[in-house]
Amino acid sequence: MIDEAALIAAARAAAVNAHAPYSRFRVGAALLLTDGTVVTGANVENASYGLSLCAETVAVATASAAGRLRDIVAVAVIGGMDRDGRATGTDPVRPCGRCRQVLNEAAGMGRRDLTVLCAGAEGDAVERHRLSDLLPHAFGPSDLGIDP
Ligand code: THU
Repeated sequence: MIDEAALIAAARAAAVNAHAPYSRFRVGAALLLTDGTVVTGANVENASYGLSLCAETVAVATASAAGRLRDIVAVAVIGGMDRDGRATGTDPVRPCGRCRQVLNEAAGMGRRDLTVLCAGAEGDAVERHRLSDLLPHAFGPSDLGIDP
């Protein structure tokens, strides 16, 4: 069982450390690993806008750096808060296309579909998805003959 509220709370806490002076749209992501460990990330924007990193990508890179890429089972994403955590938007934040592909790498290496929880800044609108629904017919490690 996934403690959804706890995972979303971890993502919300991570968003406080977002570096988002350009969009002012803070996003936090929290990954649940097989052993219950939670790994978080927040968006890191750049003065050269196109170099900005999304919260989910930062979280996946952090998990990978810890040798845990294949252990991810779920991700919670929440966004649209200001620095104090106040809501500036209410719609659930769904992973962008690039983040879906980044998450798919983890899914492929772990040979499991991922649960994706998407929350609005006020926390009341939570969507539950499977990554395979958000990114159908994905290109992944197995397409290159990689057998994790
Ligand atoms: N953002 C994320 O961190 N994750 C997403 O899935 C969507 C967008 C960030 C990127 C940028 O820093 C800000 O939200 C506005 O697009």
